[in-house]
Amino acid sequence: MSILDIRVLGDPVLRKPTKPVIEVTDELRKLIANMFETMYVAEGIGLAAPQVGRTDRLAVVDVEGAKYVLINPRIVSTQGTRKEMAEEGCLSIPDIYGDVERPATVTIRATDENGNEYEATASELLGRCFQHEIDHLDGKLFIDYLSPLKRKAAMSKWEKAKGEYPGSIRKVRSEEKGEHHHEHETEM
Ligand code: NI
Repeated sequence: MSILDIRVLGDPVLRKPTKPVIEVTDELRKLIANMFETMYVAEGIGLAAPQVGRTDRLAVVDVEGAKYVLINPRIVSTQGTRKEMAEEGCLSIPDIYGDVERPATVTIRATDENGNEYEATASELLGRCFQHEIDHLDGKLFIDYLSPLKRKAAMSKWEKAKGEYPGSIRKVRSEEKGEHHHEHETEM
């Protein structure tokens, strides 16, 4: 397995819609394994293919041991009208956090690494992570949901930080583990 470079805000790949996966190949399974490895080293709970420079409609998620491979995922329903506000962060926008309002519970349908279709219903952090990753596959980022004022503040913070990532590339190394993270902050 290898650790992949993470593309950060500014790389156009993050804004491109992805292409449906036609076949689950060994090459794709290798990519999935590398994405999990990269996500764990970066201490994230979700990672979508565009974040490693790919255009496949694919993401991986591990929220407190609930591990999912999302190939061609889609949201099939949101239960009720209740929405919840919670803080989000993204491995592609390091150290920037913001409150995002999303439906509290969602049901998704996706294909796993063995080519089997499944359905999953989730709320709280897992449900939020599913929605955040599916957004990535549509070229959408959590900062798009922030109010104009909060988005402006986040962007000026990012303007100062982005110099750390030449070429919009974040090199993830195992020794940086823990460095960026505080107790309640979650990057996905
Ligand atoms: Ni993200």
